Amino acid sequence: MENHTKDSTMNVSSLNCIDLSNDDLHNSVISLKQACLDCGFFYVINHGINEEFMDDVFEQSKKFFDLPLEEKMKVLRNEKHRGYTPVLDELLDPVNQVNGDHKEGYYIGIEVPKDDPHWDKPFYGPNPWPDADVLPGWRETMEKYHQEALRISKDIARLLALALDLDVDYFDRTEMLGKPIATMRLLRYQGVSDPSNGIYACGAHSDFGMMTLLATDSVTGLQICKDKKATPQKWEYVPPIKGAFIVNLGDMLERWSNGFFKSTLHRVLGNGQERYSIPFFLEPNHDCLVECLPTCKSESNLPKYPPIKCSTYLTQRYNETHAELSIYHQQT
Ligand code: OGA
Ligand code: NI
Repeated sequence: MENHTKDSTMNVSSLNCIDLSNDDLHNSVISLKQACLDCGFFYVINHGINEEFMDDVFEQSKKFFDLPLEEKMKVLRNEKHRGYTPVLDELLDPVNQVNGDHKEGYYIGIEVPKDDPHWDKPFYGPNPWPDADVLPGWRETMEKYHQEALRISKDIARLLALALDLDVDYFDRTEMLGKPIATMRLLRYQGVSDPSNGIYACGAHSDFGMMTLLATDSVTGLQICKDKKATPQKWEYVPPIKGAFIVNLGDMLERWSNGFFKSTLHRVLGNGQERYSIPFFLEPNHDCLVECLPTCKSESNLPKYPPIKCSTYLTQRYNETHAELSIYHQQT
């Protein structure tokens, strides 16, 4: 009852909704640009993935997390950031959180086989997969979803290019999204968050990369803070919409666009219900140099950030937020 009372007075954000099947490109770009300047969050609909397939992906995700912990530990996250991440593995907001996030995860990236000349780069490589006898069809479902999410993310990147006054295929170039570091992450949240005691399902953060395509189930939990400098901070719930993705811009795009587009602080509060989500993080090629876009600088608006290689930036951010892998090896 108490929760219900709180819910009825809670702040809910209303975000722009981009229809990817809309033929009026001009209209879509205007709406997208407004969202990117305002808060860096928007919904995407009519993206071409059907709901039955989405339900299947979530069902398979649940099957993995329902396995006994020792089975999940067999595919523990490796040094390439692929595989299972146990509860508390990630700490996103050390100032306000007492422990790590109350969530479990499973990272899946682009499969780069060991005979590929680039396989040994930090975020490339083969994925670990749960035993096919334990979870038949699991790998196939996840690989198909990864492909679809990449296709949609690239469609959105075209709209972003137009919103930034760049050529529509600017980010499609080989050295940009030709061989991207595109990583999806299955997530399961459990428990009740207690912000006044530093307990969060997912601590406040902005995403590291270019953009994130987020699929969620119907359980509310995601919140955004449009103005990180306001005191006290004002948090608004982003309600899930069946069939829509929630898309948000990451720090790499904020940097790339010289601060023109915003990456917004967000977090997740657990309400006691199990909650599943699947963020898909799009970042450019490993070697892509993220330096101020040509349309985002002028004589009176010089680049604010030095150029940085995509993988260098990401490695730094992952190392700051994830536990040392050695802690798990000491335990076993
Ligand atoms: C993330 C994230 C939100 C959610 O993983 O970066 O913000 O709803 N997830 O799971
Ligand atoms: Ni996030």
